[in-house]
Amino acid sequence: MLQDKITQYTTEINDFSTENVEELEQFRIKFLGTKGIIKDIFDEFKAVSPEEKKTLGKVLNEFKQLAENKYQTLKEQDKSELIGKDAGLDLTLPGSGFEVGARHPLALVRREIVDIFSKLGFVVAEGPEIEDDWHNFSALNFPEEHPARDMQDTFFIKKGGEHGDIALRTHTSSVQVRMMEAGKPPFRALMPGRVYRNEAISARAHCFFHQVEGLYVDENVSFADLKQTLFYFVQELYGEGTKVRFRPSYFPFTEPSAEMDISCTICKGEGCQFCKFSGWVEILGCGMVDPNVLENCGIDSKKYSGFAFGMGIERIANLKFVIKDLRLFSENDARFLKQYKTSLI
Ligand code: DAH
Repeated sequence: MLQDKITQYTTEINDFSTENVEELEQFRIKFLGTKGIIKDIFDEFKAVSPEEKKTLGKVLNEFKQLAENKYQTLKEQDKSELIGKDAGLDLTLPGSGFEVGARHPLALVRREIVDIFSKLGFVVAEGPEIEDDWHNFSALNFPEEHPARDMQDTFFIKKGGEHGDIALRTHTSSVQVRMMEAGKPPFRALMPGRVYRNEAISARAHCFFHQVEGLYVDENVSFADLKQTLFYFVQELYGEGTKVRFRPSYFPFTEPSAEMDISCTICKGEGCQFCKFSGWVEILGCGMVDPNVLENCGIDSKKYSGFAFGMGIERIANLKFVIKDLRLFSENDARFLKQYKTSLI
């Protein structure tokens, strides 16, 4: 009796085939489920006579194996063949979109600065981030005991060397020296790049940031040329009507030196938190190239004169986008970076 049942179900299992997930599940419940046929048959088996058990036991195990194998085979076939049918995947749905990358806000600002000066004939030049004392300090007329050479500001890498201690450059002014040493006047160049200072990282300071250096050397270059060039730059970058003012300052490599302020871009000079209610914000340092620097680079300071300027790109970007925490620029948080996708291209 039990044998008959097994024979009948064996045929059914052998004949069974499906590509449908639902049907396969029905099959599993029917044969292998907790209330399924196999469970019933095993229950019935308990009641058969001991002689019958000997022969039937083997048959029963083979039968169970057959049902399990069938189920496994059909289930694996599912994965490859049922995609797009019953697997719940609708191939007619639109695909997932591509995210368009965004330029880094500092790259956008650097590009805009370069574009403005290129209209005045400035070319772009670059120099190494690992510098020697000569290019970063000495040639730029820094006195031996100048505090900027101090360990607190500079990341020194190696003592000694043909041109003095090796350090990470603290400003892009070093590129001026490399340019003047390598060529002949006139020079009209913009030198963007990353610079390093030994500062604790906070919202207002970072151990690395970016600068753009400018250099113009020719015969008869005057402070008036410097003023006019920077005035033009500011009108282009922040819009016509932006005011500028120059305050006397000191840098070892320029004489005279100045710092340039612009009328606050946030409050238009009315006074706000950003400009500390002064109506002005400082954006760069500049001056007439010190004759000592020209001579250090092999340029006749009787014949040639020039002006130079240097600005922090983060600072310019801040005035453009009002970004309060400097650290955002280097954290690579896509949510921050994505915001600048369409501004300023
Ligand atoms: N190198 C200066 C700094 O890092 C910026 C600077 C000031 C550059 C005056 C110049 C300049 O070329 O003329 O603070």
